[in-house]
Amino acid sequence: MRLLVTGGCGFIGSNFIRLVLEEHPEDEVLNLDKLTYAGNPENLKDVEGSPRYFFQQGDICEAEDVVKAFAWKPDTAVNFAAETHVDRSITSPEDFVRTDVLGTYRLLEQARELGIRFMQISTDEVYGSISAGSFTEESPLRPNSPYAASKAGADLLVRSYVRTYGVDAVIVRSSNNYGPYQYPEKVIPLFVTNLLEGRKVPLYGEGRNVRDWLYVRDNCRAIDLVLRSGRSGEAYNIGAGQEKTNLELTHIILEIMGKGEESIEYVPDRPGHDLRYSVDTSRLRELGWSPRQDFEGGLRETVRWYRENAAWWEPIKSGEFQRYYLERYGDI
Ligand SMILES: NC(=O)c1ccc[n+]([C@@H]2O[C@H](COP(=O)([O-])OP(=O)(O)OC[C@H]3O[C@@H](n4cnc5c(N)ncnc54)[C@H](O)[C@@H]3O)[C@@H](O)[C@H]2O)c1
Repeated sequence: MRLLVTGGCGFIGSNFIRLVLEEHPEDEVLNLDKLTYAGNPENLKDVEGSPRYFFQQGDICEAEDVVKAFAWKPDTAVNFAAETHVDRSITSPEDFVRTDVLGTYRLLEQARELGIRFMQISTDEVYGSISAGSFTEESPLRPNSPYAASKAGADLLVRSYVRTYGVDAVIVRSSNNYGPYQYPEKVIPLFVTNLLEGRKVPLYGEGRNVRDWLYVRDNCRAIDLVLRSGRSGEAYNIGAGQEKTNLELTHIILEIMGKGEESIEYVPDRPGHDLRYSVDTSRLRELGWSPRQDFEGGLRETVRWYRENAAWWEPIKSGEFQRYYLERYGDI
């Protein structure tokens, strides 16, 4: 397969490219990435020398960049590129509408012209919050943040390209991921690196929000499976069924890192903060997928990775991130 992967220098995209190159020795990958604050070529340093890996710096919203990438003649395109941080979507929604909606449109146009399979990497956040039970792929999309709304807009565009133009497309909607190479603005790497720096961890509200934590490698295996065997026109939920409140999550991290309750700093809640996400993954499991990584084991592995890779995250935390962090959390 010749895969065009967009946003491959981010957290999940880089883990996915590594998995594809490892597990499919015939495959070649072209990574189209704008290298925003969240994109880091260091994430793929170990595969840079591979003759099956190619990189193009470019913006999925710019027609010229997208046309150039498709001129490489991929036989499938996987779209990870997005603005992804909910907090940033509350302060700067325009970037989200542009990349997540317009960017997806540009890619769909090219996939349509070339007649190739298109995969949209979406999120469980498009369904909104659910107090009990789980969303299926047929549940209505009721996004609550500008991030989730822009991702839902992209999903609906994909659906329309399937129905209107017969594009061969699949969508995956995964729950919260964690693991190596996640930018430290997201809760798990933020908390782990703060504790490694001897700081406190800023916990929103009372920590009652529930998320289903999925190890990034398990997510990438699911994406790879749906890409190759998913039914055209379908969406597939991905989740590990490992639900934790943010307070439970915090306590597990503190325990792994040998810290106590005094390391928690409660901060005002995020506006419109969804209480609980939960997805039904029966459709994906019918394809033969199940998660391999249990939560505590995955978290221990993640803590180990951040402990051993300070050279990866320390420059990030002292750069653009520092201004962002100070504005948000002060000197916590
Ligand atoms: N992280 C999660 O827990 C999670 C959960 C569900 C779904 N998702 C989805 O998975 C995808 C990847 O998430 P992530 O956490 O790896 O994101 P990330 O923020 O770590 O990486 C995003 C990548 O996209 C690139 N990018 C941004 N705008 C671009 C543009 N206009 N053109 C080209 N490249 C651009 C960035 O440079 C970066 O490399 C996203 O679509 C996200 O919505 C993430």
